[in-house]
Amino acid sequence: MSAVVALVPAAGRGVRLGESLPKAFVPVGGTPMVALAVAGLVASGVVDRVVVVVPEGLPQDIIDAALTSSLGALPPVPVQVVVGGAQRTDSVRAGITATPDATHYLVHDAARALTPPALIGRVVGALYAGNDAVVPALAVVDTIKSVDAAGVVTGTPDRAGLRAIQTPQGFTADVLRRAYAAEGAATDDAGLVERIGVPVHTVAGDPLAFKITTPLDLRLAESLVAQVVR
Ligand code: C5P
Repeated sequence: MSAVVALVPAAGRGVRLGESLPKAFVPVGGTPMVALAVAGLVASGVVDRVVVVVPEGLPQDIIDAALTSSLGALPPVPVQVVVGGAQRTDSVRAGITATPDATHYLVHDAARALTPPALIGRVVGALYAGNDAVVPALAVVDTIKSVDAAGVVTGTPDRAGLRAIQTPQGFTADVLRRAYAAEGAATDDAGLVERIGVPVHTVAGDPLAFKITTPLDLRLAESLVAQVVR
């Protein structure tokens, strides 16, 4: 039997946002980001269990309030809480360790709080179609340049071949476990999977799946949250 487990790393400090609470617990339109992210996963109807990875030492009442705040009308999907680590990879690894029964994983940043359920469905659909690793991708609108340590431009890759990658990223459980068992660092989970030589498939991303990172992102999310349909 398949078990699609969504890991939600929510253990970052989020210093770029400038709030006192850890970023994932900062409210957007009155609801903590992590609660919105979990609600989107549940509303997709394609997730069997959600594992939220929380910062060490965060008071239990803050966690409880966040995880009961937005799930009211949604179908019951078990939500498990595990404690994360210093780096995002440590937090994801804690989630993997806690879920030996998973057959497929989605790894979804709590900070992508407004991700549409349809996008989550596209990722799982591509996994069920036989892909071992699936990421949502958007065309890049800015020209991207590489620079050296002094800030001098060293190159301009062809924009047509570049994509901005979002979450949830989907993997067969075997592939994600193997990627995390191997040494190395990457800025996303698919980066670790690429290192072990597994092809990563893309599906269409969605601008609403943007990562809330800066105070401007938070203002944008606040203005959008009332219009997001779950
Ligand atoms: O810092 P960044 O925005 O890239 O973090 C992406 C996601 O990873 C956030 O949801 C954050 O809470 C999570 N994270 C984590 N554990 C860490 C660092 C980040 O769960 N140590």
